[in-house]
Amino acid sequence: MTRQIVRSIVLCLLACVIGAQLSRGQEAQDKPLTRDEAKLLKSPVPYTKSSIARGRVLYTNDCTGCHGHDGKAQVDVIADATDLTDPKLWKSGVTEGEIFRSIRDGAGISMPPYKNQIRKSEDLWHLVNFIRSLWPEAQRPKLQEEKQGKDGL
Ligand code: HEC
Repeated sequence: MTRQIVRSIVLCLLACVIGAQLSRGQEAQDKPLTRDEAKLLKSPVPYTKSSIARGRVLYTNDCTGCHGHDGKAQVDVIADATDLTDPKLWKSGVTEGEIFRSIRDGAGISMPPYKNQIRKSEDLWHLVNFIRSLWPEAQRPKLQEEKQGKDGL
């Protein structure tokens, strides 16, 4: 009998330890990326019309308040947000991984991190694609063909 109790206590403790380990793993995943880590990231979501369209929906929901509908951030309602249409003015990097990082982890002092609102990293990549579609044509990535049933849509 006592042995059974001891066994259940040990099992409980074990479950606790494993649980703590698992949630620590989650935290590690949510840890902000360094700029160098971000530079190495490659987007798993191709730059296609449907990805840009999905990014546009997310952008309209979450980003227009500060960056404006056209991305130009001409009305400084809340903060001095970056003009997203001109990559020359950017401060936190213009590679796809760096843009991903700016959105996921925040940028500068007043760009908030979005990793808790936008949980699917695929959606963050759709946003990256949409934002690059606002750039001058010469600086945009080359539009890729849609693959049927792919792009996470
Ligand atoms: C609360 C206002 C606010 C909201 C909402 C906001 N931003 Fe920002 N954003 C800023 C500010 C301010 C900066 C400039 C930060 C700095 O000082 O470098 C910025 C910078 C950025 C940058 C980096 C530009 C650079 O200089 O490298 C990107 C990319 C960006 N925002 C995308 C987004 C996207 C996508 C969303 C929606 C998911 C969004 N922002 C929502 C305020 C905001």
